Parts: sequence; structure tokens; C-alpha cells
Amino acid sequence: MTERVNMSDKEIISKTAAFVKAELLHAEGGHDWFHIERVWKNARRIAREEPVNLFIVELGALLHDIADHKFHDGDESVGVLKARKFLQGLRVDVAVGDHVVKIMKNISFKGGNFSPGFFSLELAVVQDADRLDAIGAIGIARAFNYGGYKGREMYDPAVKPVAGMTVEQYQHSKAPTINHFYEKLLLLKDRMNTKTGRRMAEQRHRFLEQYLEQFFREWDGN
Ligand code: ADP
Ligand code: NI
Repeated sequence: MTERVNMSDKEIISKTAAFVKAELLHAEGGHDWFHIERVWKNARRIAREEPVNLFIVELGALLHDIADHKFHDGDESVGVLKARKFLQGLRVDVAVGDHVVKIMKNISFKGGNFSPGFFSLELAVVQDADRLDAIGAIGIARAFNYGGYKGREMYDPAVKPVAGMTVEQYQHSKAPTINHFYEKLLLLKDRMNTKTGRRMAEQRHRFLEQYLEQFFREWDGN
């Protein structure tokens, strides 16, 4: 009789969650384990209504932000290499590992002018799940947390938002956090891939708009 050494999908997911949690122990508040946990949850919810491979969706959601390029001088390969090694160590099917890496490489917004070289329904689900966490109440909290972490101003009426930035411009922008709403957050609703994602995004988008209205009202002393 041959010994069964391969882990079940469930075990692999739980080992991956533990690995990611440890990796992100000192991460900035908007890109920490709780972000991953929310994206993981969103992804499972969206996946219920899409004919996807749930195992790949869950692995993609869990690993999508390890060693984010923003925190490694723009180097994207750090996270990808780590994820590959980790999955190989668990003897995850090579095709599954390749797919997860493609999700990691193509999920990011990067100013909106990045044309992904890959598409799959699994990527679509994880991307929607990640985008949902960038809008709504949580999205606002994350943006200001990231802005504070980077020492950005909250708002400066003299610095206008820039539409359609290149990947380079986007990654090097030092603009106030409110600009990020116009440069990314408000654009996400129309870029959702799935029906469930779109529906969830609409409600969160309205909240962003209300928030901005109130922000400017208060800014003007009203
Ligand atoms: P992606 O990983 O999809 O390219 P980003 O790196 O643009 O996304 O950002 C992920 C999250 O980090 C954003 O949703 C936001 O909360 C925060 N963030 C990134 N860039 C900025 C910024 N310039 N100002 C404020 N928040 C930012
Ligand atoms: Ni993310």
C-alpha cells in the first residue's frame, strides 16, 4: 500500500493562513493580516456565485499581498518567490501554484493603466474581493492609515488629483490622501468583474461619496 503523504486542501488552506499571518506580523495597518482575512472572506462569498476552483481562489486571496511591492522598493518578485517556495513545500500541484502566482502578479490596480497579461475567473474573484476592501468604511480607514504611514497630508486644495496616471507616476505619487479617492477608490465600482462584487461595491461606493461630501462641507466650515 502506498502511503498518502499529500495534505488535504483544507489543511493546505489552514497552513497557508498561518504562514501569511506570521509573514504580515509587522505590516502597515491597511495591508495586515486583517486585510487578508477580509479579502479571504469577501472572496469566499463572491465565489459562491461563480463557477470557480475555490481552492485556487482561497490560496490567491491569502497570498495576494505577501511582500507587497510597495514595501519592497517596488520589487514584486519577493512575494512571488516566497509564495512559490511555500506552496512547493506543501507539495501543492504545480499548475495550482502557477495559477496562484499569476493571480498575485495581476491583481494590482497600479493607477488603472496596467494591462494584465493574464485573466481567469479565479483572478476576477480575488481582485473583486481585494477591491471591495479598498472602498466603503474600511477603504476610507485604510487609505488614511496608509497616508499617515507615508507621512502624507490628508488634503491640500492646491494639489489636484491626476487622472490616468502611469504605473510609475502612481507608485511614486506623494499626493494627499483625499486625492487617492479620485485617483483610485472612486474608480473601482465600474471595474468590478463579477455580479456579486459589483452589487457589494455599489453600496460601498455610495458611502465614499457621502463621506467626501461631508468632508468638504466640514472643510468649508459648514
Ligand atoms: P493595488 O495593490 O491594487 O495596486 P494600491 O497599492 O494602490 O492597490 O493600494 C492598496 C491600498 O493601499 C489602497 O486601497 C489604499 O487603501 C492604500 N493606498 C495605496 N496608495 C495610497 C495612496 N496614495 N494614498 C492613500 N492610500 C493608499
Ligand atoms: Ni490586498
